Amino acid sequence: MRIDIITVLPELLEGPLNCSILKRAQDKKLAEIVIHNLRDYSTDKHRRVDDYPFGGTAGMVMQIEPVDRAISHLKSQRKYDEIIYTSPDGETFNQPMANSLSMTENLLILCGHYKGIDYRIREHLITKEISIGDYVLTGGELAAAVMCDAIIRLIPGAIGDEQSALSDSFQDNLLAAPIYTRPAEYNGWRVPDILLSGHQRKIEEWQHEMSVERTRRLRPDLLGEDE
Ligand code: ADE
Repeated sequence: MRIDIITVLPELLEGPLNCSILKRAQDKKLAEIVIHNLRDYSTDKHRRVDDYPFGGTAGMVMQIEPVDRAISHLKSQRKYDEIIYTSPDGETFNQPMANSLSMTENLLILCGHYKGIDYRIREHLITKEISIGDYVLTGGELAAAVMCDAIIRLIPGAIGDEQSALSDSFQDNLLAAPIYTRPAEYNGWRVPDILLSGHQRKIEEWQHEMSVERTRRLRPDLLGEDE
Protein backbone atom coordinates (compact mmCIF):
# COMPACT_ATOMS: atom_id res chain seq x y z
CA MET A 1 0.00 0.00 0.00
CA ARG A 2 0.99 3.63 -0.38
CA ILE A 3 0.39 6.45 2.11
CA ASP A 4 0.92 10.08 1.04
CA ILE A 5 1.10 12.62 3.85
CA ILE A 6 0.73 16.38 3.38
CA THR A 7 2.28 18.41 6.19
CA VAL A 8 3.92 21.73 7.06
CA LEU A 9 6.37 19.87 9.33
CA PRO A 10 7.94 17.02 7.34
CA GLU A 11 10.79 16.70 9.86
CA LEU A 12 8.32 15.73 12.59
CA LEU A 13 7.28 12.68 10.55
CA GLU A 14 10.59 11.57 9.10
CA GLY A 15 11.98 10.11 12.34
CA PRO A 16 9.05 7.95 13.45
CA LEU A 17 8.26 6.74 9.93
CA ASN A 18 11.80 5.72 9.07
CA CYS A 19 12.86 3.34 11.77
CA SER A 20 12.16 -0.16 13.06
CA ILE A 21 9.17 -2.03 11.62
CA LEU A 22 7.95 0.87 9.47
CA LYS A 23 11.35 1.20 7.86
CA ARG A 24 11.59 -2.55 7.28
CA ALA A 25 8.13 -2.64 5.70
CA GLN A 26 9.19 0.11 3.32
CA ASP A 27 12.53 -1.57 2.54
CA LYS A 28 10.61 -4.77 1.74
CA LYS A 29 8.29 -2.74 -0.54
CA LEU A 30 5.24 -3.75 1.51
CA ALA A 31 4.44 -0.10 2.11
CA GLU A 32 5.48 3.21 0.66
CA ILE A 33 5.13 6.40 2.68
CA VAL A 34 5.68 9.68 0.81
CA ILE A 35 5.81 12.94 2.74
CA HIS A 36 4.87 16.17 0.92
CA ASN A 37 5.70 19.62 2.23
CA LEU A 38 2.56 21.76 1.89
CA ARG A 39 4.76 24.84 1.41
CA ASP A 40 5.87 23.41 -1.96
CA TYR A 41 2.30 24.06 -3.15
CA SER A 42 2.16 27.68 -1.96
CA THR A 43 2.15 30.42 -4.60
CA ASP A 44 3.23 32.99 -2.01
CA LYS A 45 6.81 34.26 -2.30
CA HIS A 46 7.38 33.49 1.39
CA ARG A 47 5.81 30.02 0.95
CA ARG A 48 3.04 30.92 3.39
CA VAL A 49 0.17 28.48 3.74
CA ASP A 50 -1.82 30.16 6.54
CA ASP A 51 -3.80 33.37 7.02
CA TYR A 52 -5.97 35.17 9.57
CA PRO A 53 -9.49 33.80 10.13
CA PHE A 54 -12.56 35.70 8.94
CA GLY A 55 -14.63 36.85 11.89
CA GLY A 56 -11.70 37.82 14.05
CA THR A 57 -11.14 34.71 16.20
CA ALA A 58 -7.64 34.01 17.49
CA GLY A 59 -5.03 31.92 15.69
CA MET A 60 -4.04 31.25 12.09
CA VAL A 61 -5.90 29.08 9.60
CA MET A 62 -4.50 26.77 6.93
CA GLN A 63 -5.52 28.17 3.53
CA ILE A 64 -7.56 26.22 1.00
CA GLU A 65 -5.51 27.06 -2.09
CA PRO A 66 -2.21 25.27 -1.33
CA VAL A 67 -4.10 22.31 0.14
CA ASP A 68 -6.32 22.05 -2.95
CA ARG A 69 -3.27 22.30 -5.22
CA ALA A 70 -1.48 19.54 -3.28
CA ILE A 71 -4.48 17.21 -3.14
CA SER A 72 -5.38 17.80 -6.82
CA HIS A 73 -1.79 17.10 -7.88
CA LEU A 74 -1.71 13.82 -5.93
CA LYS A 75 -5.21 12.79 -7.07
CA SER A 76 -4.12 13.25 -10.70
CA GLN A 77 -1.54 10.48 -10.13
CA ARG A 78 -3.60 7.81 -8.35
CA LYS A 79 -7.02 7.06 -6.93
CA TYR A 80 -7.21 7.35 -3.14
CA ASP A 81 -9.36 5.05 -1.03
CA GLU A 82 -9.60 7.77 1.61
CA ILE A 83 -8.43 11.35 1.99
CA ILE A 84 -8.01 11.69 5.74
CA TYR A 85 -7.78 14.83 7.85
CA THR A 86 -6.28 14.42 11.32
CA SER A 87 -8.32 16.39 13.81
CA PRO A 88 -9.43 16.12 17.44
CA ASP A 89 -13.05 16.32 16.27
CA GLY A 90 -12.79 13.31 13.95
CA GLU A 91 -13.93 9.73 14.50
CA THR A 92 -11.78 8.10 17.18
CA PHE A 93 -9.10 5.82 15.71
CA ASN A 94 -9.28 2.21 16.89
CA GLN A 95 -8.17 -1.29 15.92
CA PRO A 96 -11.08 -2.08 13.55
CA MET A 97 -10.32 1.18 11.71
CA ALA A 98 -6.61 0.24 11.50
CA ASN A 99 -7.59 -3.20 10.18
CA SER A 100 -9.78 -1.83 7.42
CA LEU A 101 -7.36 0.95 6.42
CA SER A 102 -4.52 -1.62 6.23
CA MET A 103 -6.45 -3.35 3.44
CA THR A 104 -6.59 -0.26 1.21
CA GLU A 105 -4.26 0.57 -1.69
CA ASN A 106 -3.75 4.33 -1.42
CA LEU A 107 -4.33 6.68 1.49
CA LEU A 108 -3.78 10.41 1.61
CA ILE A 109 -3.43 12.07 5.02
CA LEU A 110 -3.61 15.83 5.50
CA CYS A 111 -2.10 16.88 8.82
CA GLY A 112 -3.99 19.73 10.43
CA HIS A 113 -2.08 22.65 11.92
CA TYR A 114 -2.46 26.16 13.30
CA LYS A 115 -5.91 26.90 14.72
CA GLY A 116 -7.52 24.77 12.08
CA ILE A 117 -8.00 24.54 8.35
CA ASP A 118 -10.37 26.44 6.08
CA TYR A 119 -13.64 24.57 6.57
CA ARG A 120 -14.19 24.24 2.81
CA ILE A 121 -11.28 21.78 2.73
CA ARG A 122 -13.18 19.54 5.13
CA GLU A 123 -16.45 19.96 3.25
CA HIS A 124 -15.16 19.38 -0.26
CA LEU A 125 -11.78 17.62 -0.26
CA ILE A 126 -11.67 15.31 2.77
CA THR A 127 -13.43 11.91 2.88
CA LYS A 128 -12.67 10.94 6.50
CA GLU A 129 -11.69 12.83 9.67
CA ILE A 130 -9.81 10.89 12.32
CA SER A 131 -8.81 11.73 15.90
CA ILE A 132 -6.37 9.60 17.87
CA GLY A 133 -7.98 10.51 21.20
CA ASP A 134 -9.77 13.14 23.24
CA TYR A 135 -6.87 15.54 23.71
CA VAL A 136 -5.45 18.31 21.55
CA LEU A 137 -2.02 18.00 19.90
CA THR A 138 -0.16 20.94 18.37
CA GLY A 139 -0.67 19.41 14.95
CA GLY A 140 -1.78 16.29 13.15
CA GLU A 141 1.72 14.92 12.41
CA LEU A 142 2.02 12.73 15.49
CA ALA A 143 -1.52 11.48 14.90
CA ALA A 144 -0.57 10.58 11.31
CA ALA A 145 2.54 8.75 12.56
CA VAL A 146 0.45 6.79 15.08
CA MET A 147 -2.04 5.79 12.38
CA CYS A 148 0.71 4.77 9.92
CA ASP A 149 2.33 2.60 12.60
CA ALA A 150 -0.92 0.85 13.53
CA ILE A 151 -1.89 0.33 9.87
CA ILE A 152 1.44 -0.78 8.41
CA ARG A 153 2.29 -3.35 11.08
CA LEU A 154 -0.88 -5.20 10.02
CA ILE A 155 0.26 -5.72 6.43
CA PRO A 156 1.20 -9.41 6.05
CA GLY A 157 4.98 -9.75 6.27
CA ALA A 158 5.52 -6.42 8.07
CA ILE A 159 6.16 -8.04 11.42
CA GLY A 160 8.17 -11.23 11.71
CA ASP A 161 5.58 -13.52 13.19
CA GLU A 162 2.21 -12.96 11.51
CA GLN A 163 0.50 -14.59 14.47
CA SER A 164 1.63 -11.80 16.71
CA ALA A 165 -0.50 -9.15 14.99
CA LEU A 166 -3.53 -11.41 15.36
CA SER A 167 -2.89 -11.94 19.08
CA ASP A 168 -2.61 -8.19 19.77
CA SER A 169 -4.75 -6.63 22.43
CA PHE A 170 -8.04 -5.40 20.86
CA GLN A 171 -7.99 -7.78 17.85
CA ASP A 172 -10.85 -9.74 19.44
CA ASN A 173 -11.96 -6.95 21.77
CA LEU A 174 -9.89 -8.54 24.56
CA LEU A 175 -6.67 -7.30 26.13
CA ALA A 176 -3.68 -9.60 25.62
CA ALA A 177 -2.76 -12.23 28.23
CA PRO A 178 0.37 -11.64 30.36
CA ILE A 179 3.59 -12.72 28.64
CA TYR A 180 6.95 -13.71 30.16
CA THR A 181 10.43 -14.83 29.14
CA ARG A 182 13.46 -16.39 30.84
CA PRO A 183 14.46 -16.64 33.62
CA ALA A 184 11.47 -18.56 35.01
CA GLU A 185 12.27 -17.11 38.43
CA TYR A 186 13.76 -13.71 39.20
CA ASN A 187 14.07 -12.19 42.69
CA GLY A 188 11.67 -14.89 43.88
CA TRP A 189 9.04 -13.73 41.29
CA ARG A 190 7.93 -16.82 39.40
CA VAL A 191 6.42 -17.17 35.97
CA PRO A 192 2.99 -18.93 36.26
CA ASP A 193 3.60 -22.72 36.41
CA ILE A 194 1.07 -23.40 33.65
CA LEU A 195 3.32 -21.66 31.09
CA LEU A 196 6.15 -24.06 31.94
CA SER A 197 3.92 -27.16 31.86
CA GLY A 198 4.17 -27.89 28.14
CA HIS A 199 0.37 -28.50 27.90
CA GLN A 200 -0.44 -26.37 24.87
CA ARG A 201 -4.23 -26.68 25.15
CA LYS A 202 -4.22 -25.82 28.86
CA ILE A 203 -1.86 -22.92 28.22
CA GLU A 204 -4.22 -21.51 25.59
CA GLU A 205 -7.20 -21.91 27.95
CA TRP A 206 -5.25 -20.08 30.68
CA GLN A 207 -4.28 -17.31 28.24
CA HIS A 208 -7.91 -16.85 27.23
CA GLU A 209 -9.07 -16.77 30.87
CA MET A 210 -6.39 -14.20 31.69
CA SER A 211 -7.41 -12.08 28.69
CA VAL A 212 -11.02 -12.05 29.81
CA GLU A 213 -10.06 -11.34 33.44
CA ARG A 214 -7.75 -8.44 32.50
CA THR A 215 -10.33 -6.99 30.11
CA ARG A 216 -13.08 -7.22 32.76
CA ARG A 217 -10.85 -5.51 35.31
CA LEU A 218 -9.15 -2.87 33.13
CA ARG A 219 -11.48 -2.25 30.17
CA PRO A 220 -15.01 -3.49 31.03
CA ASP A 221 -16.31 -1.23 28.24
CA LEU A 222 -14.80 -3.65 25.66
CA LEU A 223 -17.06 -6.41 27.05
CA GLY A 224 -20.08 -4.09 27.16
CA GLU A 225 -20.00 -4.38 30.98
CA ASP A 226 -19.32 -0.78 31.92
CA GLU A 227 -22.85 0.27 32.80
N1 ADE B 1 -4.67 17.20 15.87
C1 ADE B 1 -4.69 17.77 17.09
N2 ADE B 1 -5.13 16.92 18.02
C2 ADE B 1 -5.40 15.75 17.39
C3 ADE B 1 -5.89 14.49 17.81
N3 ADE B 1 -6.20 14.25 19.09
N4 ADE B 1 -6.05 13.53 16.88
C4 ADE B 1 -5.76 13.78 15.60
N5 ADE B 1 -5.29 14.94 15.14
C5 ADE B 1 -5.11 15.93 16.02
